[in-house]
Amino acid sequence: MRYAVFGNPIAHSKSPQIHAAFAAEFGLPGFQYDKLLAPLDGFGTAVREFVAAGGAGCNVTVPFKEEAFRLAEVLSARARAAGAVNTLMVQADGSLFGDNTDGAGLVADLLRHVPLQGKRLLLLGAGGAARGALLPLLAEQPALLLIANRTVARARALSEDVVQPWLAATGLPAELLPVHGVATFDFLIGGVPLEVTGGASPVRALGKRGVQFDVVINATSASLGGEAIPMAPDAFAADAVAYDMMYGKDETTFLAQARAAGVATRVDGLGMLVGQAAEAFTLWTGHRPDVAPVLASLRAAL
Ligand code: ATR
Repeated sequence: MRYAVFGNPIAHSKSPQIHAAFAAEFGLPGFQYDKLLAPLDGFGTAVREFVAAGGAGCNVTVPFKEEAFRLAEVLSARARAAGAVNTLMVQADGSLFGDNTDGAGLVADLLRHVPLQGKRLLLLGAGGAARGALLPLLAEQPALLLIANRTVARARALSEDVVQPWLAATGLPAELLPVHGVATFDFLIGGVPLEVTGGASPVRALGKRGVQFDVVINATSASLGGEAIPMAPDAFAADAVAYDMMYGKDETTFLAQARAAGVATRVDGLGMLVGQAAEAFTLWTGHRPDVAPVLASLRAAL
């Protein structure tokens, strides 16, 4: 079975290594996974050629996830919510199924460190990475989900496109609905949230200063430029978990910030990378791989 990851650039991708390790766990000798550079204006053609040559599925990375979303003929609910596809699979009837496993990979990695049910979550950022995380996070039934972003209009768009429809359709009784809010970073240094909905008494839960968060997820790209998030240290609860979707050999700016704030459990996004791959591998092969040894070897090689 032939699989691949498409991106541009793609040379840096660790996906072939990850999938080869998964395939070895189950002894799938016919499993092949390559990295393929698609031209910036030729992603659709490249995927069609790959499928015509016998490709059974592929991963999609920067900058093609939105294009893959448009290319897919059938979409999973989480891909629809994300507005982006990172996993394509050729179905029995030849149609192209599009999924997004990034958020599930994040949640699986988070759950290795902390349960999310009943917890107060703060999602920093409102770009594609944040959008992809929302449905899998909500499915864990947190008590509170605040989306904070530099540009509040983008946070509001995420709320309106993904969170509000989920709140309206979930069928959970009001007392089990997560309190949901949208804010600028101003809230994190003592301002008030801009909008609050959901939950039994949302305004009481979030409409005051000094709310603390059990899990803080950085989905912004601020760490790339070495910029800190303007956030008061006491926004982290006493035993909070700080999670940065970014990763690298050195500590990310956000995790350094969390360390300075006294946060003991700080996790970078390498486990999310392995987690999204595990979800894709499971979708394609029906085998759920063990992420821990693969994560350990990737960590050692950073
Ligand atoms: P991605 O697909 O990786 O999420 P994106 O859609 O460009 O990329 O989104 C980047 C996110 O990082 C956005 O939330 C962006 O904030 P804005 O919506 O205000 O642009 C956030 N971001 C980028 N640089 C930042 C910085 N220096 N400080 C805070 N937030 C930043």
